[in-house]
Amino acid sequence: MQTKIENKNIVLGVCGGIAAYKSVELLRLLNKQGAKVRVVMTQNARSFIGPLTFEALSGNPVCFDLFQNIDRKNDASIRHIDWARDADVVIIAPATANIIGKIANGIADDALTTLMLAVTAPVLLCPSMNTQMYANKAFCRNLSTLRDDGYFIVEPEAGELACGDSGPGRLPEPKDILDRLLYRLAQKDLKNKKVLVTAGPTREPIDPVRFISNPSSGKMGYSIAKAAEHRGAKVVLISGPTNLLDPINVEVIKVETAKEMARAVFERMEDANIIIKTAAVSDYRPVKLEKQKIKKGKDEISLFLKKNQDILKELGRKKKDQILVGFAAETENLEINAEKKLAEKKLDIIAANLVNRSSSGFGSDTNKVVLLYKDKTREALPEMLKDDLAHILLDRIVKIL
Ligand code: PMT
Repeated sequence: MQTKIENKNIVLGVCGGIAAYKSVELLRLLNKQGAKVRVVMTQNARSFIGPLTFEALSGNPVCFDLFQNIDRKNDASIRHIDWARDADVVIIAPATANIIGKIANGIADDALTTLMLAVTAPVLLCPSMNTQMYANKAFCRNLSTLRDDGYFIVEPEAGELACGDSGPGRLPEPKDILDRLLYRLAQKDLKNKKVLVTAGPTREPIDPVRFISNPSSGKMGYSIAKAAEHRGAKVVLISGPTNLLDPINVEVIKVETAKEMARAVFERMEDANIIIKTAAVSDYRPVKLEKQKIKKGKDEISLFLKKNQDILKELGRKKKDQILVGFAAETENLEINAEKKLAEKKLDIIAANLVNRSSSGFGSDTNKVVLLYKDKTREALPEMLKDDLAHILLDRIVKIL
């Protein structure tokens, strides 16, 4: 998969800032993704965190001195050159004003800055510092030089800082730095494309405190939205209620009911080149919305339901030169049912999704689908992470484009 960092050589540069503790978590996340990480620390970073922590977690010696013998048995390497040459990507997190000033001006006076002069791989710089320092003119000049030189800057977050000030300067959470790394590495094959994704369940209210819904977590749709953004698309995500954080750089529209989702989708459909509907939309809604909470009384009561509009079918009817992708959640006759929906809703692709096992469908991090195409071909995919499936689906869409 194009954005995978499995087996990639990553150099993680750590500078002396209060946020240095977050680079430990970043290292763990990179490890989890199968990357091989080598850590280079500045002398100042060692005042905040010990090299042993990084050594234990990375399984590699940590470099903090140009002249240090880190391979205790046989260290004949010219480390800053070897590590720079081996690197598929370099991340400096946190990057202080000092390191940014030095790199921008070609200064090489320690292990990290010397290595940086020899690096040809992509570099992510994650500035983190006091708000006033971040606004300082000399610093801004240096950062702008680095941006122009092709360095990828992961903007700091705004908020309360360790020094007590409030404003931009906080190192983003490690998962967000990882997300930007995947963005930086992804091929931008959806550049200039507008992608509309729906995700999550809908809720159809019965009374003020009860509703009809389903266990969709939104994970599949959010994975697709994230993957499309990484590949350069402008993404709108229309989401039912979920516990997920908004993907970075994606416009998220929150809805509750099928009617609200339909309205939001129809408002945005004209603009989209690609529409992917992973949302588990309620097929029915209660005919009557009780104004007050229904009181417990009779042993049996009836709930009358009315059919909701089929959003995807309507999209199929209205579509013009757009790619339309649906998901079919099935507990039986997977491919037969999905095939019917593909034709009925005039789709280009439908992902037939078996939802009666814990590792596929609702709520899980993994999914197993068969892709059915308009030209009647089909492709059974193995069970995989929803993040990976999102990229495979986009690969297939790019082929059609
Ligand atoms: O959110 P997760 O926990 O990650 O779970 C993912 C998922 C199981 C919800 C997802 O992979 C999935 O299968 N989504 C489709 C669920 C569904 O509603 O399937 P369906 O067969 O009922 O509908 C077929 C298609 O029509 C879907 O694309 C659906 O969005 C659309 N539809 C359905 C009803 C309706 N009124 N309007 C619609 O647009």
